[in-house]
Amino acid sequence: MVNRRLLRWEEIAPLIGRRDPQLSRGQARLERCASIGDLRALARRRVPRAVFDYVDGAAGSETTLLRSRQAYARVQFQPRVLRDVSDVDLSVPMLGERSALPIAFAPTGFTRMMHHVGEPAVAEAAAEAGIPYALSTLGTTSVEDLAAAAPHTRRWFQLYMWRDRVAVEALVRRAEESGYDTLMLTVDTAVGGIRLRDVRNGLTIPPQLRAATIAQMALYPRWWANVLTTPPLEFASLTSTGGTVGDLLTEVFDPTIGPDHITWLRGIWPGRIIVKGIQSIEDARLVADLGVDAVVLSNHGGRQIDMGNVPLELLPGVVDAVGDRLEVYVDGGITSGDIVSACAFGARGVLVGRAYLYGLMAGGADGVRRTVAILEKEIRTTMQLLGVRSVAELNPGYVTLR
Ligand SMILES: Cc1cc2nc3c(=O)[nH]c(=O)nc-3n(C[C@H](O)[C@H](O)[C@H](O)COP(=O)(O)O)c2cc1C
Repeated sequence: MVNRRLLRWEEIAPLIGRRDPQLSRGQARLERCASIGDLRALARRRVPRAVFDYVDGAAGSETTLLRSRQAYARVQFQPRVLRDVSDVDLSVPMLGERSALPIAFAPTGFTRMMHHVGEPAVAEAAAEAGIPYALSTLGTTSVEDLAAAAPHTRRWFQLYMWRDRVAVEALVRRAEESGYDTLMLTVDTAVGGIRLRDVRNGLTIPPQLRAATIAQMALYPRWWANVLTTPPLEFASLTSTGGTVGDLLTEVFDPTIGPDHITWLRGIWPGRIIVKGIQSIEDARLVADLGVDAVVLSNHGGRQIDMGNVPLELLPGVVDAVGDRLEVYVDGGITSGDIVSACAFGARGVLVGRAYLYGLMAGGADGVRRTVAILEKEIRTTMQLLGVRSVAELNPGYVTLR
């Protein structure tokens, strides 16, 4: 026999969730995103399909990206318990400075297309999080403008080797003069990958107004209004040719890129050099011999070669081969506390690309902040449940690949 009583409004009222009056509707929507997947779903509703697909998509059958992601599902943690994990240190040394999290924001081209606040907002969120931000050669904000907009961000400059060496040298000097401390040379783009979603969507840079595009405008009026009332959407460092991004890469970038280019860069760049896009132990050895400071094991987020190598699987072998000579980073498909497993396998840290772009598309600067908050919480919680108090304590004993 259950005793029942009448409902009382005074008891129910406090149980009804109300929006924190400090938060705008947009911020409240972001707060409700509990994972990067939730941010991705919100992003999909905020921008035209061609823009979402440019970020979300990869090359060919997108198998490289899928496998890179799925590798994290093969990770099995070996937790230890009965340890005091009340205080956990998530910071790591990254190329001579401390980063508050084992994360750097990856270079992503054409960021102002995702949201009109673009690179400066992402760089600002990176500064607040205490992590580095890499500006892309294909950025929509110039090296100088970004430096002025985000003076407190640790700025790296990502370089693509163009055919025109004089232009490359000029760009590198501008980055140096604007206070970028590290050069990240991307080497997996001898030619552009075949990104079928971009081809099918007719995504060109800059966007062209075709009948279908105009029809899309009605669905995303705010995105279009922002694009059309802010400075023209174009590459800040090079003139675009009007084709797809893949076409542009193929036309401008130097397919003869080799070890000599890295030696040449060593001669003209006084700071640290990261080589991004290493996909084999042999190439990791090759660039270690050239004296670079770090490598990123990366398949460009699956946007270049299809059926490519999986960075997480490559990681232990590369750490074994060159880990005593340079810092090893990994990227591709990272959208959660997976970062902890990469560090346990020997990575100094990870790069994330799409994770912050989903946040950016979902809600501009606040969206990127939400990305950081979600990743930070997931890393912290995973480490606490693993019985680890600092990133430095992580080691392969905590993980296996099933
Ligand atoms: C929209 C987009 C644009 C990108 N543009 C560049 C770029 O200009 N230069 C570069 O080196 N990598 C670029 N990348 C690759 C990223 O730096 C990084 O390797 C990749 O995004 C990591 O995978 P994730 O997005 O799954 O985290 C881009 C990636 C995306 C998603």
